[in-house]
Amino acid sequence: MKHTILLTGGAGFIGSHLTRLFVTKYPDYRIVNLDKLTYAGNLENLRDIEHAPNYQFVKGDIVDLPFLRTLFAEHQFTAVLHCAAESHVDRSITDPLAFVTTNVIGTTALLQAAKEAWKDDMNGKIFYHISTDEVYGSLGETGFFTEETAYDPRSPYSASKASSDHLVRAFHHTYKLPVKLSNCSNNYGPYHFPEKLIPLCINNILTNKPLPIYGKGENVRDWLYVEDHVRAIDVIFHTGKIGETYNIGGHNEWKNIDLVKELCRQVDQKLGRDKGTSEKLITYVTDRAGHDMRYAIDATKLKNELGWTPSLQFEEGISKTIDWYLANGEWLNHVTSGDYREYYEKMYRG
Ligand code: NAD
Ligand code: DAU
Repeated sequence: MKHTILLTGGAGFIGSHLTRLFVTKYPDYRIVNLDKLTYAGNLENLRDIEHAPNYQFVKGDIVDLPFLRTLFAEHQFTAVLHCAAESHVDRSITDPLAFVTTNVIGTTALLQAAKEAWKDDMNGKIFYHISTDEVYGSLGETGFFTEETAYDPRSPYSASKASSDHLVRAFHHTYKLPVKLSNCSNNYGPYHFPEKLIPLCINNILTNKPLPIYGKGENVRDWLYVEDHVRAIDVIFHTGKIGETYNIGGHNEWKNIDLVKELCRQVDQKLGRDKGTSEKLITYVTDRAGHDMRYAIDATKLKNELGWTPSLQFEEGISKTIDWYLANGEWLNHVTSGDYREYYEKMYRG
């Protein structure tokens, strides 16, 4: 089947990798990238594919249902890849309403628009919701999140994502909307906004600024290279079962402090600096409120049923990521200075 896909949040970190993969791998599909261009949305992430004949950018808000209805009528979408969200936990602690607005109300508006547009023929349609492992809560020293783990969100961000997951499933059960969901662990890689731990630390190492470690740095995250995540989404989109959820992760757990030390080691080595130079920048700061201790994904279902496994070892992935940031100083400068916001005006406003 040839798809016309509404991809939301395509100017963000994961969304831009997902857009690139679908635009280049499926020239027969049409991809419409709907993005509000919040502080996290950056069209410079998509420079290499912005003129592709099967790609179109539309600026808009997923909360705006009348606008979504018009968009569905205009493009006759056969699928939705829903990536748009407020995504940063620290911001959710200072502004929870923004997270409820986009993640809960925005997702519901999108579900409603798809349900109305597809009401006479749901055959072959797919509403794919991209979610996070944080909905499952926080683990102790052992155990993993499976698809059966009970939801236990603990930050405004994860509570808003959990709500959106429930609404997606509710639309499937109540209206038979053909949905698929995936819940992924922490991503890293190129185009990651430098408010998140890995790009923040790379940027601060390069600019000789403190590396802020929350609490004792003992919290554990399970890191996956972003291209492996979008490859999993591709597999689930095309071969996953309707109504099902798949966990995505790389069995790659790191304590924050060990991860930051590894970043310091690799950057020092690449720049020919003395061993231990960057580690001196490590600074312990006040812990995040309600900081989840450990996340770890069991991706057995995805491996056994659909054959997906991660392609990159972490040392290789993190090395590629650092190389990308070293080679893309201009992107980093634009993002940290705010200049990237002018790109839309130049590109799309003539
Ligand atoms: P991001 O913050 O980098 O990008 C989010 C994008 O959504 C931005 O381009 C932003 O402009 C857009 N957006 C925000 N509000 C919008 C609205 N109301 N209407 C239209 N567009 C809007 O996020 P990310 O890290 O790429 O995460 C993408 C998705 O993947 C999110 O749903 C997130 O919950 C999920 N996820 C992220 C990770 C991770 O490690 N980053 C891991 C698992 C799941
Ligand atoms: O698990 C998936 C989630 O991973 C996604 O759903 C979120 O969208 C994504 O932002 C990410 O959430 P985290 O809170 O785990 O990522 P972050 O990079 O903000 O933090 C990673 C860890 O590092 C976490 O334990 C907090 C800590 N940290 C973070 C920052 C920004 C620090 O110690 N210092 C920092 O400055």
